Amino acid sequence: MKLFFVKPGFKDGLAIQWGVSAGKYDAAERIVISNPIFFYGLSGRTKLLVDRGQASYMRKYKRKAEGHAPFSPANRKGFFLCAGATRGKRLFDCPVLTVRYFFDAIDVEYAGEVCFREIEV
Ligand SMILES: Cc1cc2nc3c(=O)[nH]c(=O)nc-3n(C[C@H](O)[C@H](O)[C@H](O)COP(=O)(O)O)c2cc1C
Repeated sequence: MKLFFVKPGFKDGLAIQWGVSAGKYDAAERIVISNPIFFYGLSGRTKLLVDRGQASYMRKYKRKAEGHAPFSPANRKGFFLCAGATRGKRLFDCPVLTVRYFFDAIDVEYAGEVCFREIEV
């Protein structure tokens, strides 16, 4: 797969690889998702990871009235790296939004992105 990782060397850094459970990224303080553009979106593998965030989303937004506390550790941050082959003006619009909402669901602050067009030129 392309990269899913929490950059090694960060405090409590934790490699996130294909097949890892959502519980592992829950514990990470920093999450870096690296993704190739597939049809103007996330690759299927990245999307599978993102979709695991639905349980966290439900907990965060649907059970707020029950006193949900933010996930720990606090001050979690996430960064997004993305690359595509073409130079489409809106190439990164969809994946950036998806990753932003994923990070929000798991109480990770979106710290930014670096996106590369024409990666194969
Ligand atoms: C199934 C598939 C769909 C792709 N769709 C797009 C696309 O919509 N726009 C684009 O710019 N590149 C597209 N690409 C190109 C990939 O983004 C590009 O090959 C990738 O970022 C290069 O990374 P890699 O060398 O690690 O595979 C697609 C590639 C594949 C295999």
